[in-house]
Amino acid sequence: MNEPLPETNDPWTLYWQADRLDSCIASASPGDAAAIAAFWQSFAGRINDTASVLDLATGNGTVPKCLLQASAALEITAVDKAAIDPMTYLQDGGELGQVNFIGNVDICALPFAAASFDAVTSQFGLEYAPLEAATRSAAAVLKPGGSMQLLLHHSDSEIVKPAAARRDEIRRLLATDGIIHALIAYINNRIPLEQLETAGQGHLASAHAKTAAVSGQIFDGVNQVILGMQEGDRQEAELLATVMVARLSAEQARLEQLLDAALTEQQATKIRGMLQGSGVDVERLDPLLIGETPDSRALIGWQLSGTKR
Ligand SMILES: C[S@@+](CC[C@H](N)C(=O)[O-])C[C@H]1O[C@@H](n2cnc3c(N)ncnc32)[C@H](O)[C@@H]1O
Repeated sequence: MNEPLPETNDPWTLYWQADRLDSCIASASPGDAAAIAAFWQSFAGRINDTASVLDLATGNGTVPKCLLQASAALEITAVDKAAIDPMTYLQDGGELGQVNFIGNVDICALPFAAASFDAVTSQFGLEYAPLEAATRSAAAVLKPGGSMQLLLHHSDSEIVKPAAARRDEIRRLLATDGIIHALIAYINNRIPLEQLETAGQGHLASAHAKTAAVSGQIFDGVNQVILGMQEGDRQEAELLATVMVARLSAEQARLEQLLDAALTEQQATKIRGMLQGSGVDVERLDPLLIGETPDSRALIGWQLSGTKR
């Protein structure tokens, strides 16, 4: 059966309606995920075993999962502005069953009393929100003496660089002279199949990067639409194309947000200043590099640790 039209146009809600735990790892290598897990497990080792933790912009709960794997008795609340529901979408939520997930919560307007958590965490999340309001509100819910641990996007990271390339690939597919526009024109009988094929060949012949995950999937989809049209099922072909455009546009919007959120050194330093101003002493703000050898070292993001005064 074909995929239905997404019920939301919030790119992150759509993204988390799938059996996926992560959105931002540097590569598909299990080593990267393990290194990021180790980063959070080491933080879990530095806080009380039964601490109350608030994870901001949690997605499907990758940070809570890492923390609980290190310290099973933590009491974790995890919020996101997207309408998250990890236990419905993850096939194996495991320990996440004990996390209090709350969707539709903006970091800038947290529904918690001041000083109510022993720790506040966020992985590639806080920087997506307006920074002044987000830092103020994250600091406010932290108890005096409580710990803050953030992993933030770095503008030069191995996560941000491929995201820019993927965003550009999608932009080209969606451009007015791109294959998606040609596909819609073909479905509406405004151009013949040959002209759609020419648009496809143009995309393939261009010097820009093309990946199996983006262009490859779109070409598969285009072929399915053509087949549907040739079999006389125009309605089905049109639905398929609409779903494809909706998903591609959502992915473009998600990547635009990611790229906008990425922080230069100057911006990361500004966050430190904002947190200091909201009562959090920042002990550490450094690039986080993972990988065993100098050759395999990858820049993942900014790591920030602080303590509420
Ligand atoms: C890159 S994902 C990170 C998710 C998760 N922490 C992870 O590492 O997999 C960014 C998340 O920030 C959320 N987000 C963006 N702006 C937000 C806001 N103002 N308040 C709460 N969450 C927000 C998005 O919905 C998305 O789930």
